[in-house]
Amino acid sequence: MTEQSPALDNLLTESRTFPPSDDFAAQANAKAEMYAEADADREAFWAKQAERLTWDTKWTTVLDWTNAPFAKWFVGGKLNVAYNCVDRHVESGHGDQVAIHWVGEPGDTRDITYAELKTEVSKAANALASLGVTAGDVVAIQLQMVPEAIFAMLACARIGALHNVVFGGFSPTALRARVDDAAAKVVITSDGQFRRGKAAPMKANVDEALEGAETVEKVIVVKRTGDKLEGEMPWTDSRDVWWHELVDGQSEEHTPEAFDSEHPLFILYTSGTTGKPKGILHTSGGYLTQTAYTHHNVFDHKAGEDVYWCTADIGWITGHSYIVYGPLANRVTQVVYEGTPNTPHEGRHWEIVQKYKVSLYYTAPTLIRTFMKWGAEIPEKYDLSSLRVLGSVGEPINPEAWIWYRENIGAGTAPVVDTWWQTETGAIMISPLPGVTSAKPGSAQKALPGISAKVVDDQGAEVGPGGGGYLVLDKPWPSMLRGVWGDEERFRDTYWSRFKDQGFYFAGDGAKYDNDGDVWLLGRVDDVMNVSGHRISTTEVESALVSHPTVAEAAVVGATDPTTGQGIVAFVILRGNAVDGGEEAIQALRNHVAKEIGPIAKPRQIMVVPELPKTRSGKIMRRLLRDVAENRQVGDVTTLADSSVMDLISSGLKSGKSEE
Ligand code: PRX
Repeated sequence: MTEQSPALDNLLTESRTFPPSDDFAAQANAKAEMYAEADADREAFWAKQAERLTWDTKWTTVLDWTNAPFAKWFVGGKLNVAYNCVDRHVESGHGDQVAIHWVGEPGDTRDITYAELKTEVSKAANALASLGVTAGDVVAIQLQMVPEAIFAMLACARIGALHNVVFGGFSPTALRARVDDAAAKVVITSDGQFRRGKAAPMKANVDEALEGAETVEKVIVVKRTGDKLEGEMPWTDSRDVWWHELVDGQSEEHTPEAFDSEHPLFILYTSGTTGKPKGILHTSGGYLTQTAYTHHNVFDHKAGEDVYWCTADIGWITGHSYIVYGPLANRVTQVVYEGTPNTPHEGRHWEIVQKYKVSLYYTAPTLIRTFMKWGAEIPEKYDLSSLRVLGSVGEPINPEAWIWYRENIGAGTAPVVDTWWQTETGAIMISPLPGVTSAKPGSAQKALPGISAKVVDDQGAEVGPGGGGYLVLDKPWPSMLRGVWGDEERFRDTYWSRFKDQGFYFAGDGAKYDNDGDVWLLGRVDDVMNVSGHRISTTEVESALVSHPTVAEAAVVGATDPTTGQGIVAFVILRGNAVDGGEEAIQALRNHVAKEIGPIAKPRQIMVVPELPKTRSGKIMRRLLRDVAENRQVGDVTTLADSSVMDLISSGLKSGKSEE
């Protein structure tokens, strides 16, 4: 925890509210009574939600919390997650329903029905099995948004293997760390990816990552860019195999085996407060129950009628829970788009919404703010009348963006649901219900029925209306993480030690209640930044900087950024032997971070400083650096070991800023 406490500020005074229309409320999946029903008997409530899945063997106990913080949900139950997302929809007569309208960045498209999805997933499952992948093995996937990414994830689930999806933008070093930590046996990637109209290499990066990797036996390569990719694609005959050569010849029949409700489903790495990412572990029955429940109720999804589009990448939890598992379990028809929102033009999303008559759209505030910047005249050119629910996730949405979204994308009528959750929570936890809640721009409002969240003070006591503090989850929930891969101590330390006596899960976010008791999220209170809805730890970027031969010391802060929420600002002390801190040197450092972690972690700005502000115990006072980064008057410096340091910093600043 840093010394500053933005969590305790209580700044916003938004008072506008937007109740749902009577028509919307009347047809909504979720009704107000659900809150009382869940409060009366939480376990019975969750048992009812679990009934929306198809179980091979029914559970005997809903929740076992005797070994807290390791929960077991739907104990004794058995199911196959892929069967629930695919086969059962074919069996119920919906084989011809489109599951995925896939849109490639260059303009190619592919519609995949549930019957076709079943065939593809079955073949991929047989293919993995033919390579010796069995239940409990780990398969790493680094793929852009191509259908094979979804086939591969479901194929793993089908055979009980864990997937470990690594965002396509992560560097070879970051991929390698995630492959090694999880001991992945197989890696699935593509030859290259289309990005802003260009074919960029993927396989070459994977090869760089895997040099000397001991656990990886096979690399499966999806052909996407083919001969459009410039340069040679590296290939190792004994290890590499094309997806189409391996998968196409497989049998279309595959019998899904039922696994225990607590069988591991996947690992997904996320940034914490230390340099080493954490492998968040999710399991089967509880995770699928809560993702399906929330997708049904928060987005008001009607199977066979709605067309849903979540713009996240499968490399993040939102892509796992709200592209793959929750929606497919609910027999969604959804759009999956491969590319960036401004390729080839800034109306690309709205063109897709118009074409497929998208009715439920789920995106991140950073993108909404980008759309705002591009101007309302762009969405105005398209018919967006199909849209009826708009979702937001990943960071606090500022009221201006919320209103803009509702007015310009939702025709001033579509409910906006601001959904708070985390990689660790697995599914949405705090959100309005679109047919029930009078929405307030900027507030995630209330824990969903069945979920319990509180805002507490330093001592763990709940604050009153108008009060601010720390967001905690005080009761276990079905899709909660089951641990940090291979590191029980870190799991306990990170999430369960801050409020150990009370047994609360500490989310790392500051929050406040308004006078109606609605929750407002105020951002992280730890050393985790949120850049375009992506979590990046300050320590991770600091370690990357210090690993450069010219850097002696580095301190990184997240500074408010009008588009990305936060921008990464680094303060570095160069080594004595470094020639100078000129533009070129700063560019080199920015590129070095991109190479170590990935382009998303590239600092927006690097300032070369002679000293860093430290307390007497040697702790860097980020609060003061944030003041500098945000061009504010520097705050209280009395706890600094040397109070003249801030003057030194302010007078000697050389800064490198990039507009990229
Ligand atoms: O700080 C909160 C912020 O994103 C963090 C979780 O990041 P991640 O695990 O990458 O998952 C992002 C997608 C679920 C949280 O601790 N956050 C997420 N949603 C919101 C949010 N902050 C405010 N409002 C939200 N709706």
